[in-house]
Amino acid sequence: MIGCLISFYKNRRRLLDWYTDMLSASPSQTILISRLGARRTIVTANARNVEYILKTNFTNFPKGKPFTDILGDFLGNGIFNVDGDMWYHQRKLVMHQFNATSLRAYVEKVLKDEVEKKLLPTMESAAVESFVRVQLMLLGVRLFGCAAANFGSVRHSVGHLREERAAPLAAVWKIKRFMDYGSEKRLREAIGKIHLFVDGIVREKKRKIMSCCEKGEEDGMKWILLPKCHDVAFLPALVPPPRGNEMARELTAIQCGDTSIFERLKELRWLKACICESMRLFPPVAWDSKHATANDELPDGTKVRAGDRVTYFPYGMGRMKSLWGEDRFEFKPERWVSEVERGKVKALKNYGPYKFSVFQAGPRACPGKEMAFVQMKYVVASIMERFMIRPVIPDQPVFVPLLTAHMARGFKVLVSRR
Ligand code: HEM
Repeated sequence: MIGCLISFYKNRRRLLDWYTDMLSASPSQTILISRLGARRTIVTANARNVEYILKTNFTNFPKGKPFTDILGDFLGNGIFNVDGDMWYHQRKLVMHQFNATSLRAYVEKVLKDEVEKKLLPTMESAAVESFVRVQLMLLGVRLFGCAAANFGSVRHSVGHLREERAAPLAAVWKIKRFMDYGSEKRLREAIGKIHLFVDGIVREKKRKIMSCCEKGEEDGMKWILLPKCHDVAFLPALVPPPRGNEMARELTAIQCGDTSIFERLKELRWLKACICESMRLFPPVAWDSKHATANDELPDGTKVRAGDRVTYFPYGMGRMKSLWGEDRFEFKPERWVSEVERGKVKALKNYGPYKFSVFQAGPRACPGKEMAFVQMKYVVASIMERFMIRPVIPDQPVFVPLLTAHMARGFKVLVSRR
């Protein structure tokens, strides 16, 4: 037990890769972690287990109180942080918002506006001042629709929330919160700022509804603060030829034609393959935990005790030889392509949500998946059409698995106009 705690401490800066190594070495890609003072934790990268946890026996694997306690003061009783009936009712409500009509309206009004009025002007000034940190800028557009610099410290505190509170001894963060000390004090202040900001949006929304100025679904989806769209989705934009050329060809091809942006985005299949490949290696939610309510057994024979934390691990799954083969560490968008006609990608493979578990799966699968792809395609395509982007330093950015993953200190790139 102590031994495990020591290894845990030694590997604390490379937890994702440490877990991945252990899972690769396990015959069933599942490990059991017992740390002194911490809950028994089962971590799995086995697709059959993932299907069992997320779908087959969904009711036995809710998020559970240990999880919802950690995010409670940030997310309250919102859909992300509740189980049972409270979740079910919110889910039904949310699903009404995610339909093809509102998605189309969102792209053609909200997203277009955000990109043209906020993202591209920022890129223009970066092209003059010559470099920019991609991550903060994209975060600004997606999460707050404003200059993210104001929220840099907020994001830092909130981003560390799950990591710090999930540390082996839960008593530590609880005492710090009680004493309003250190990281917990910073967190309380950061959450206060976010709530203030969100309250403003909600008040404004209510005011518009009350004054009947707003009709239909014009920005019906804006009320959900867009979570976790993918910083690392920007990586494909940096890939060298010939894959970069392939993307440029696809972008040029869709510029002609009189169909709507929404329809044209559907044609960007090679770009979608690049985004999927980037998320396979760098999933925005690197791991996600449930807590068993009753004793159980996973399909690979792992025994689960009531109260165990059961974690499925998209980051490790993207790196399992059994799932992706020998070349699993390579960035190869072509693995997603199933049909090419006259040099053009006509269809993509669907690996299924249990092997590619980046959007979770089963009854709690991410309802924003389509919207996320649309956003990522639109943002990358809008930038690539106008700008050339090169990394300032050749090293790979360090991937940090906070509440949602990001690149340590952002990703410094040089921007120039095409
Ligand atoms: C690349 C982008 C995205 C990824 C990788 C992603 C991934 C995920 C994952 C893994 C979950 C499950 C989290 C958990 O249960 O702890 C989730 C839930 C959810 N996502 Fe996404 N998401 C993305 C974008 C979006 C967008 C753009 C929206 C909405 C506009 C959205 C809305 C939601 C909602 C409402 C839930 C809660 C579902 C439930 O608990 O029933 N997501 N997402």
